[in-house]
Amino acid sequence: MELTNIETILNDALIHSSKYIDDGNVATYIPELAKADKNLLGASIVTIEGKRYHVGDWHQEFTIQSISKTISLIFALHNLGPEIVFNKVGMEPSGDPFNSIIKLETKKYPSNPYINAGAIAVAGLISERYSFEDYLKLVRLFCGRNSIEVDENVYMSESKTGMLNRSLAYMMNSSGVLEADVEKTLDFYFKMCSVKVNSNDLANYAAILANDGLDLKSGDRLIDNSILKIVKSLMLTCGMYDGSGEFAIRVGMPAKSGVGGGILAFAENKLGICVFGPALDSQGNSIGGYHMLEYLSKELGLHYF
Ligand code: DON
Repeated sequence: MELTNIETILNDALIHSSKYIDDGNVATYIPELAKADKNLLGASIVTIEGKRYHVGDWHQEFTIQSISKTISLIFALHNLGPEIVFNKVGMEPSGDPFNSIIKLETKKYPSNPYINAGAIAVAGLISERYSFEDYLKLVRLFCGRNSIEVDENVYMSESKTGMLNRSLAYMMNSSGVLEADVEKTLDFYFKMCSVKVNSNDLANYAAILANDGLDLKSGDRLIDNSILKIVKSLMLTCGMYDGSGEFAIRVGMPAKSGVGGGILAFAENKLGICVFGPALDSQGNSIGGYHMLEYLSKELGLHYF
């Protein structure tokens, strides 16, 4: 793939998007996240040939948060299969905020695996049968870094204050959606959200998604084709929550955001991107990151249509 001027365009994207930081705010409902510096902004691009480009605060570590929901879904689909997973969770965008409880009463099953309720249901399936270490190994493999660990402060903070997530879990437990031990499930969920990464780590994972699930160096298949179809399609339709439709029009890449400030996106057969900026818009997506992705999509011709 010939993509010229990536370095220049990435630098321009940073300058262009830093203007929007003032309009956003760091997440405060997880007290530890409220300590983040809202002015941080950075990004990494990894091409499928393995070339790396970085800008701004790309080296800064942040918690992966909801971006982890794509990896736990891959883990569950690989180890348990789609029948077991989609017996508990749907495949449709919810149109509601990521932490909404409302549809659990009317529809019982969470709309998709990327909203909190859906990811907790998937975490229940995994934590019944596998250890957190088993899951963490997959995160490390996709990110290409063995030193990846949980941020204990964020994990403790989420665990202490995550009462809405507890409500979602107990509601699903009472309706029979979540059959696993509720506190053990939540512990797994809070830990998976609290894994510490930088934008290079997630751009590496994004590049594997762009590269048909193949390892960038060895070419070994890391993710089955049938699983990729599910995970990527859901990123397209549900990855940015109730902002997924507008994001698809403006940016046009499958993506997944997290309240730690990361957004992972990729252009099929070209490259993976991770942008990072803790100032969030009203839907919980990085505001500077969103503008960077829009800029990069336009200037590098990455929109899928
Ligand atoms: O459960 C939560 O609310 C967080 N651990 C994850 C939410 C999240 O990242 C939503 N993303 N934009």
